Amino acid sequence: MATLEALLHDRLAPAFEAVAGARVDPSLRRSQHADFQADAALALAKRLGRPPREIAADVLGSARLDGLVATAEVSGPGFINLTLADDALGPLLGAMSRDERLGVPRVEAPETVLVDYSAPNVAKEMHVGHLRSTVIGDAAVRVLDWLGHRVLRANHLGDWGTPFGMLIEHLADEGESGAAGELSLGDLNAFYQAARAKFDTDETFRERSRSRVVALQSGDPGTRHMWRLLVDESERHFLVLYDLLGVRLTDGDFRGESFYNDMLAPVVAELDRLGLLRVSEGAQVVYPAGFTGRGGEPLPLIVRKSDGGFGYPATDLAAIRFRTAELGATRLLYVVGLPQSQHFAMVFEVAREAGWLTPPARAEHVGFGSILGPDGKLFRSRAGDTVKLGALLDEAIARAAALIAEKSPDLDPETSAAVARDVGIGALKYADLSNDRTRDYVFDWDRMISFEGDTGPYLQYARARILSIFRRGGVTPPHDLAAIPVTAPPERALAIELLGFTGVVAEVGESLEFHRLAGYLFRLATVFTAFYERCPVLRAEGSVRESRLALCDLTARVLGRGLTLLGIGTPDRM
Ligand code: ARG
Repeated sequence: MATLEALLHDRLAPAFEAVAGARVDPSLRRSQHADFQADAALALAKRLGRPPREIAADVLGSARLDGLVATAEVSGPGFINLTLADDALGPLLGAMSRDERLGVPRVEAPETVLVDYSAPNVAKEMHVGHLRSTVIGDAAVRVLDWLGHRVLRANHLGDWGTPFGMLIEHLADEGESGAAGELSLGDLNAFYQAARAKFDTDETFRERSRSRVVALQSGDPGTRHMWRLLVDESERHFLVLYDLLGVRLTDGDFRGESFYNDMLAPVVAELDRLGLLRVSEGAQVVYPAGFTGRGGEPLPLIVRKSDGGFGYPATDLAAIRFRTAELGATRLLYVVGLPQSQHFAMVFEVAREAGWLTPPARAEHVGFGSILGPDGKLFRSRAGDTVKLGALLDEAIARAAALIAEKSPDLDPETSAAVARDVGIGALKYADLSNDRTRDYVFDWDRMISFEGDTGPYLQYARARILSIFRRGGVTPPHDLAAIPVTAPPERALAIELLGFTGVVAEVGESLEFHRLAGYLFRLATVFTAFYERCPVLRAEGSVRESRLALCDLTARVLGRGLTLLGIGTPDRM
């Protein structure tokens, strides 16, 4: 189904072309004063050496707008204001309502998109940065999948490298079923910190840890066994959190750094063969074009350290090569915090120079800002250490449960527990996704877990309330209308908002700016509220009642689909 913008574009573009003597994008957008406005005349004025109002008038003189536009007029310095014909909206809404996909087509050219997200580190608790990556990555997976792409989920677990020397050595000391409980790993953070403390204070432990790294890398069976225990235990712990979060990540999506271990030496050898490798202070490095330090000196990407170890960058290079060559991915998305921007920019450039990332294949760093506490500093627990994700999710659900108990005391216990989970987790996710991804945002329980304002619970409630209209009226909304006629201004406003869904989803599939989808849903809910206050639905009669019911239904379906695309639960009653 075509978007309103596309329909208007097709009518106006030929007229602009006729006036300008060249192709011109009419530059359409939603308007405060009419339904839409086209701004292109202003930019053309200079080129044509004519006043913009005159150009706009000429365009309107030759544009064929019948059947779609009711009134078109030049306004201000040379905008074209367009008011759609009521008759044009009805059939478009009918088509949207009959379509299971609500008018959103599958992409014409599906791609293999790989989403690298979550990626916590073994034997460490996930922190709020991993929460952002998990929530944003999940939304990317859902949107791209729904648009018809082939989506590969990649959980690039931090399961390799020098810290494993001390972790394994500590496990060996404690014994696999040591005093601290099963595998001594009950509390991963405590286990990590205990290992760290020994490493920092005990010289012989440090020495043992170093030889442990060598044993791990050379594949010593006993060492590998203990490493596996650590990884398995961590994966179990992460899967519990994923389940609670309701994200699509599964057991099969873990492909940690260790997976690429055997590819690291060949990757560096190939860089050497390609003539890209240099030696700097004993390390093997690549100088990607365009990267310089403060003093203008070229910046190295270290692919092999002076001690012979490979690191994070080499692993990411091997992963790119694997993902494009073996998995056939053409769009690689890295949902990782913005502090790693330079790392990814350099890795992508080296991969391009090495020929592992050639068009149509490309990579994007889907970066995000930090979560801040009320003091504007990095979000921390009251004790001052990093916030544990498990505790955070539990608190979200508990707070939501209190709110639900107050608002809907009549729900049976089972429903109310399920709703509390949807609302608590949904509130967290919405607070994250409704903010511009690249900005920091302040974590605020009271603001996010509320039925008022721009929140997840508000949108969930807006949808549930519409479903309750149908329940109350004992009606099944019509899904087969040829047209949904609209006439009253609040109906029209709602209609135009609904018809904007297609464009928003398509745009978000490209930009991965999920706050645009969140903002759209919030606007839709607001416009719906205005409609519902002014236009009686169940009390209306005949065809008016029918089309208003259909508008309610479309709104509920768009809200439901939109929330689902963001990974937010949609309780039917609450
Ligand atoms: N484990 C890393 C961290 O916690 C994130 C990994 C992101 N993915 C990647 N391919 N480098 O910072």
